[in-house]
Amino acid sequence: MAQERSITNQLLFERLKVKDQLKNDEVVKLEGWVRSNRNNGSIGFIEFNDGSSFKNVQLVYTKETKNYDNIVHFRTGCTIQIEGKIVLTPENKQPFEIHLIDAFLLGDCSEDYPIQKKRHSFEFLRDIAHLRPRANTFNAIFRVRNKLAFAIHQYFQERDFMYVHTPEITSNDAEGAGQVFHVVSDFKDPTAFFGGSSASLTVSGQLHVEAFALAFRNVYTFGPTFRAENSNTTRHASEFWMIEPEIAFADLEDDMDLMEDFLKYIIKYVMKNCEDEMNFFNTMIEKGLLDKLNHVVNSNFVRMTYTEGIEILKNAVKAGHKFENNNIEWGMDLQSEHERYLTEVHVKGPMFLIDFPKHIKAFYMKQNSDGKTVAACDLLVPQVGEICGGSQREENYEVLKKKMVEMGNDKGLEWYLELRKFGGCIHSGFGLGFDRLLMYITGMQNIRDVEPYPRTPGSLKY
Ligand code: 4AD
Ligand code: MG
Repeated sequence: MAQERSITNQLLFERLKVKDQLKNDEVVKLEGWVRSNRNNGSIGFIEFNDGSSFKNVQLVYTKETKNYDNIVHFRTGCTIQIEGKIVLTPENKQPFEIHLIDAFLLGDCSEDYPIQKKRHSFEFLRDIAHLRPRANTFNAIFRVRNKLAFAIHQYFQERDFMYVHTPEITSNDAEGAGQVFHVVSDFKDPTAFFGGSSASLTVSGQLHVEAFALAFRNVYTFGPTFRAENSNTTRHASEFWMIEPEIAFADLEDDMDLMEDFLKYIIKYVMKNCEDEMNFFNTMIEKGLLDKLNHVVNSNFVRMTYTEGIEILKNAVKAGHKFENNNIEWGMDLQSEHERYLTEVHVKGPMFLIDFPKHIKAFYMKQNSDGKTVAACDLLVPQVGEICGGSQREENYEVLKKKMVEMGNDKGLEWYLELRKFGGCIHSGFGLGFDRLLMYITGMQNIRDVEPYPRTPGSLKY
């Protein structure tokens, strides 16, 4: 075959954007997968993807193409190597196609390949997680997932936040909610491995990253977290990724400002850098998705207290709205249906709910002067509900100590309390659920469809 194999499909697309750089008749050699193959006897078309771009490239072949007799039998899903000539088609939807000179089969694909060129349900595809990255929707999701992760690092790195690797195995339940997975070993006595400490998978890197904020000022952790909640919903996973910045010398208002600016930045980044994928989601998954995201980027997020939220929900019930839980009382933990009413029906956009009753929130949150509420904020967005939770941290040693004892979170966290004794300061932070954010940005309705290999109660295939 004629040419070096350095060129990729993506490069072709990139070069096409810069006018005149891609030459008609240029010969390229590529490896990739057949998405479909049809021919009418005299001319044939292969939808081809080499993994470097969301869009497929059309390969055209005729009886004159070398190896024609084999090419007509290339099946959907098979791996091939091709040599062909670029033909620019500026008037078509696809800016170029490749006229085959020759093509070989590298890996055949048997006839029972489940991803044929037709619509498959997400439920069906969920059961073949090892093959679904090749289906259009999932190809787009995992591309966006990649860019989103990069945008997150870029946002913080551009602003001199330091990235901290907090541990996955820990002896603390950072949220104090008792939803931990225990880690045991085969080592003689299964709990003796860590010298008698009971080990679990982390539910949040917050407590560990707080210590770093008190040395480096602005820091973040971004990694997998684990929750043993038996919640079989479309929004809960047992393993998910979380972004947790922590900022020193910053109160709840600063925290919300950061959250809002951060969210707008990463949404803009994805819209700009994943144009093909986002257009696909806008037409195939959620009509109006781009309008929704543009609205978020251009709006000021509403800030409302929990107490005001309760009043709005009470009024909704009075006006005849039916929630599954219609018993709206100050002090209750809001369910998703309540959060969604506030953000979807009342505000019609993203909103912060702040100053929650202290008994429904975690022990580390700053107590407000009313003695009843804490300086916490949840960011609620339409369709998803809570996407992000944050708070100002209790920096007063005595207040925090008392609360930890009262709530039973004092054991093993002496080191955390010590941060209030040795040069503490006002500080705040938040946790953004990466997978829920990806659902919101792509319009996907189920967390199982935005994670490469979802872990949820009742299933651990793969
Ligand atoms: O509200 P959470 O529990 O807050 C914390 O863990 C704090 N330590 C964060 C901080 O202040 N540093 O969780 C934060 C976010 C939620 O808003 C939600 O988006 C996501 O994590 N989340 C889940 N995502 C998927 N599946 C689950 N089971 C989740 N639980 C929480
Ligand atoms: Mg929360």
